[in-house]
Order: sequence, then structure tokens, then C-alpha cells
Amino acid sequence: MLEKVEILMIEMIRTLNDDYIIELFRKIPKGKRLRAKLVLKIAGDSEEAYKLAAIIELIHAASLLHDDVIDDALTRRGEDSINALFGNKTSIMLGDILYSTGYAFLTSFPQNISYKISNAVALLSVGELLDVELSKKFNDNESIYMDMIYKKTASLIEAASVSAAMLCGKDIKIYETYGKNLGLAFQIIDDVLDITQDSEKLGKPSMHDFKEGKTTLPYMHMYGKLGVKDKTKLLGLFKKDLDESDRIWIKNHMGETLSLDYSINMAKKLGLEALSAISVENNNSLSKIIKEMIEREF
Ligand code: FPP
Ligand code: MG
Repeated sequence: MLEKVEILMIEMIRTLNDDYIIELFRKIPKGKRLRAKLVLKIAGDSEEAYKLAAIIELIHAASLLHDDVIDDALTRRGEDSINALFGNKTSIMLGDILYSTGYAFLTSFPQNISYKISNAVALLSVGELLDVELSKKFNDNESIYMDMIYKKTASLIEAASVSAAMLCGKDIKIYETYGKNLGLAFQIIDDVLDITQDSEKLGKPSMHDFKEGKTTLPYMHMYGKLGVKDKTKLLGLFKKDLDESDRIWIKNHMGETLSLDYSINMAKKLGLEALSAISVENNNSLSKIIKEMIEREF
């Protein structure tokens, strides 16, 4: 099923008649293709659904090419990132090529679908900019964090879900609630895994978010629970290169303040909201996506 999406993505890029672009595209570390899976599980396996899935994955791949430049990330999914292999300029331009190719194919879809996807890409970019701005100082405002992760991550997942529903005439509201909550939970679990998993499992350096200036939900919750002295200690570690004793201090205090449990429970709550939205649809694959996403280890 997903193999066909891979083939379509290559076919779309091939329309540019440039072998070097194909060669670069093949070097992008492959992801879970969550957004494509969503489209196909909602809209079924029509030609149009495959095309929509491929377009959304091209856009998602483009956003990560840009994100790895912004985050100075040298690895992605355990492999060298495109910016590590070919430099920032290539990574940015390949990103531009992929999302504009996706847009060219999006023009053949009905306007409500093409608007939903294009609007989500604008939100993605607003979210990424917010993430950059928030990284400048420690953020302890949970609603600002939720707004940022909605835009940065959930908006495209929501758009995948809604546009698939539009494609096959399903109830938009149901799939909006499902996609939005799945997307929010996905990013929270991502932020938890950054702390709990080792770099081998993650395919990127572990506990890197705090060093990058990202005050994710577990850090925010922990800060709220710490006494004055420990608050100062945590602020002192913000954006610093952590040594082993700093990592142990953070992990111990995450445990004492139940901050990982708080964050996982928040993701589970959002997951349950997504599950309840689609309960009337009797689609086991969509429930499975939620469960697997919450229980994932990388
Ligand atoms: C990963 O976040 C980043 C995103 C989900 C979105 C990035 C969006 C842009 C760069 C906007 C530009 C969009 C296009 C289409 C060119 P993360 O750094 O928290 O996650 P990571 O650990 O996977 O890197
Ligand atoms: Mg990143």
C-alpha cells in the first residue's frame, strides 16, 4: 500500500526531468508515512487517494528538510540528514522543489481540498517560526506550547485527515477532531521520547530539545513543580551542553515531579478524544493508528 505512495512520489518528481533531484530524494531518510497511511485508511485505495497521500508526504518531507537546517540536525531517523550530506543550501532547495511539486499536483484536486492543504502548510510555517521564537527563552506557558505544536505538527495531520474525508464525502467535523488530536498527541509523545529514549533508538541525539531551547511539555510541567532553588538550576541548564550529571538530574526531577507521566497522560487524553470522534465510523485501522502512536518507542 505505502509502496505505491513511494512510487507516485518519485513519478511526480520525475516530471521535473532532473536525475540529480531523484538521486537526492532517494537519500532522504524514510519516515513512518503516517500522513499517507491516514489518507488511505480514511479515503480507501482509489487513485485519487494515493495521489493525495503522495502530495502530502512530499510536503511533509520538504518541511523536515527545512526543519533540519533550522535545528542544525545532522541525523534524521538514524541516518545522515540531507543538510549533513550536501549542506544547508541543497537541503533548503530540495525542500522547495518537493513542496512546489506537490502543489503543482494539488491543483488538479477540488478547491476545498487544495485550500485545506495549502492553508495547513502556511500554519506549519507559522508554527515553525513560533518554535524558533520560543526557543530564545525558557517558556513556561502551556497554552502557547499547545498552539505552537498545533500549527507546527497537528495542522498537516489534521489536513491529511480532513482532505481524505472531503475526497470520499465523509463527515468533515469528525475527521478534523480526529486529525487534530492525533497530531497534538503525536508531538507530545515525540517530546517525551526525546527525554526517555537513547539516541540509538531515536535516530537523533537524545535530550536534544532542551539544548536547542525547546521547553517542551515535560520541562514546563517540571518547572512548575520545582522549588525556587531547583527552578534556578533548571533555568541554568537551558540551552547548555548537558553532561551526564545534568541528564541524571533532569531525569530524576522529571520522575519526582511526575512530569513524564503528566505529559503521557495528556497525550493519552488527546488520543481518547480522537478515538471518541471516530467511534461512530467503525474504522479499526484508525483506532490502531492512535494506539500505536501513543505506545511507539521512536
Ligand atoms: C519538526 O519539528 C518540524 C515540523 C513538524 C514542521 C516544520 C515546518 C517548516 C520548516 C515549515 C516549512 C514548510 C515547508 C513545506 C517547506 P521538531 O524539530 O520538533 O521535530 P524533529 O525532532 O522531528 O526534528
Ligand atoms: Mg527538528
